[in-house]
Amino acid sequence: MKIQGKVDDLPHGSLAHNLMVEIKNLSKKFNHIVALNQVSMQIVQGEAAAIVGDNGSGKSTLIKMLTGDLFPDTGEIVIANQSFRRLSPRKAMELGIRVMYQDLSLDNYKNSSENIFLGEELMQGPFLAKKRMLTEARQLLDHLHIQTPDLSEVVGNLSGGQRQGVAIARALRKDARILILDEPTAAMGMTETERVFRMLQQVKKEKKTMVIVSHNLLQVFDIADRIFVMKAGRCITNVLTKDTNPYELHTMIKEGL
Ligand SMILES: Nc1ncnc2c1ncn2[C@@H]1O[C@H](COP(=O)(O)OP(=O)(O)OP(=O)(O)O)[C@@H](O)[C@H]1O
Ligand SMILES: [Mg+2]
Repeated sequence: MKIQGKVDDLPHGSLAHNLMVEIKNLSKKFNHIVALNQVSMQIVQGEAAAIVGDNGSGKSTLIKMLTGDLFPDTGEIVIANQSFRRLSPRKAMELGIRVMYQDLSLDNYKNSSENIFLGEELMQGPFLAKKRMLTEARQLLDHLHIQTPDLSEVVGNLSGGQRQGVAIARALRKDARILILDEPTAAMGMTETERVFRMLQQVKKEKKTMVIVSHNLLQVFDIADRIFVMKAGRCITNVLTKDTNPYELHTMIKEGL
């Protein structure tokens, strides 16, 4: 196995110019609990990066800093050549960071099209351009190969995987540069999980940068180009997926390097 300390260590150094996000020495304490301890990561444009680690290792805390939901005590995040000590949710949004939360934040009483355009509805004069939203929603879902039977059905009646599809489409609708997913399939059965990962494969084909937190190592292996391993608040290593295997990764998560 080849362990990569930093992206700059890669033989083709040009990758460093394709950096999408640079996380530099982020630390965060909650009272006495050290949630993050000097975490650094480099996320390359167009790559699917996975973050793995045991429960409580700091993955969600890190994700919340990328989305502006939590500020670090120390450290900074560099995105698009701008450095942030305190990245706000609004700024993160402006920079194209899109996150899908586990609860998906969908409105169960609205249909797929209305959910995809939620908060940014298309208008025709003073009226909602419902037809146009339906057409564009259909195009977007087809483009991502997301199968949703009936766009006029309220999403409360859709399956978990279908709801996930709607949430992915919404996240990618406008100016998305990075899609962040924290445990996207945690509450799902096998079939739905597979379906969601198929959708994510499609997103990957679109060359979107992705950051996925998951405990499902097999799926991580299917989708990620690079895997960051967290342990007790530290990022202990990152490795190219092609240079490791699930067994080795499992050992690293449990026992460290
Ligand atoms: N708001 C908070 N207040 C107090 N402690 C917190 C808070 N958020 C996280 N922690 C603690 O910080 C540590 C890291 O939590 P975090 O949620 O980042 O872990 P995680 O890697 O996402 O775990 P999991 O795999 O279970 O989702 C844990 O010990 C957790 O209890
Ligand atoms: Mg978590």
